[in-house]
Amino acid sequence: GAAVEVDVSDIPPGGMKTVEWRGKPVWVVRRTPEMIAALQKNTGALADPASARDQQPAYARNAGRSIRPELFVAVGICTHLGCSPSAAPAGGGNASLPADWAGGYLCPCHGSTFDGAGRVFRNKPAPTNLEVPPHRYVSDTRLLVG
Ligand code: FES
Repeated sequence: GAAVEVDVSDIPPGGMKTVEWRGKPVWVVRRTPEMIAALQKNTGALADPASARDQQPAYARNAGRSIRPELFVAVGICTHLGCSPSAAPAGGGNASLPADWAGGYLCPCHGSTFDGAGRVFRNKPAPTNLEVPPHRYVSDTRLLVG
């Protein structure tokens, strides 16, 4: 399918823009410094912290699973049975999340949780990290997905 161009300049810190690519929702998240720092927490509880076993672009094989640390691009579809996870910020007071939750994403269907880089926690049913779609930056503010 055709690549989708995204203007990332108007995504506020902590904000998310969702675009459609090949019929799938693709998130573009502008992570804050706090969200980037939180990626170092809880890595021992992740199923695949280095994204070693996923079929992923090489630029997704780092802690942020991203080309630019502040911009996270992922397919917003749970790798368990395809529900739509929601953003679950740190300190959100959600009873489904541990008290020390560092922020990430929660799937409402069977409770899979993902950190701020879409890395799945190993005690949850989703088998793999959220998919990072092929993407690249064509300028400072313009992203091509696909
Ligand atoms: Fe997301 Fe089952 S579909 S946890």
